[in-house]
Amino acid sequence: MALLQERRGSVAILTFNRPESLNALNQEALREFEQAVDAIEHDDEVGAMVLTGAGDRAFVAGADISQFTHLDLWTSGAFAERTLALFRRIEVSPKPSIVAVNGFCLGGGVELSLSCDIRLASENAKFGQPEINLGIIPGWGGTQRLQRVVGPGWARQMILSGEMVDAQTALRIGLVNEVLPRELLLDRAVALAERIGGRARKAVALAKQAILRGQGMPLEDGLKYETAMWQLAFETEDCKEGVAAFLEKREAKFKGR
Ligand code: COA
Repeated sequence: MALLQERRGSVAILTFNRPESLNALNQEALREFEQAVDAIEHDDEVGAMVLTGAGDRAFVAGADISQFTHLDLWTSGAFAERTLALFRRIEVSPKPSIVAVNGFCLGGGVELSLSCDIRLASENAKFGQPEINLGIIPGWGGTQRLQRVVGPGWARQMILSGEMVDAQTALRIGLVNEVLPRELLLDRAVALAERIGGRARKAVALAKQAILRGQGMPLEDGLKYETAMWQLAFETEDCKEGVAAFLEKREAKFKGR
């Protein structure tokens, strides 16, 4: 199996599992990933997902380059569209995603991580968009999402030079939120996912939507959109429970409704 699936409480852990190819994404891995995301989205038991890579060397070293020999104008377009749709689905999913980057995170690995809500990395992690070394450019969102996260300066440096940055640089430029020792990385990602999944899930989804949709809007429109999401939150049962629990000085029992 190109993707391993595990549950820890309400957290679904998805592990890319082709360590002999540094977990490069081939069709099989992408298909299994798509099916897993599908199942997670329909599973009320799951509050959030964690993505990581098998072995000690890589999260995902990009698209599987051996598949590129067959690509031409038409097939490359179809391949990009399908993968972009999958990554977009993760980006807008009501189930939050946290990526635990445990080594090389290159090309499509960076692009996948940029579609996740939160990026954490181990101290040995390395990030790069090395497509330029192959005579191509990032095709799964890298030219668009990377600059929105690290700014156009660093995006240009990484994409035009193909040079990798280490975990501390990734932290400094805002590509990852935290850098941890390798042995603590997954536990931290799962704990964070557990915490987020244990919040009022409708509010989490609304907040995520407000942040995401607002990104492409002028501030005035974004603020109006936020108000609409804020109003919707007041219609949820979890809002009533959260407010009541605070006033009664007890733990809230959220039901995701
Ligand atoms: N696609 C297919 N196979 C890949 C791969 C990828 N993106 N990245 C690594 N591999 C394979 C290697 O071919 C090698 O397989 P082999 O043992 O059968 O020869 C194996 O994974 C280990 O990689 P190797 O290159 O031997 O390790 P290294 O430590 O010398 O170098 C990297 C590690 C990550 C620097 C190097 O593998 C690399 O540059 N990979 C390509 C990254 C890339 O360009 N990604 C973007 C694709 S668009």
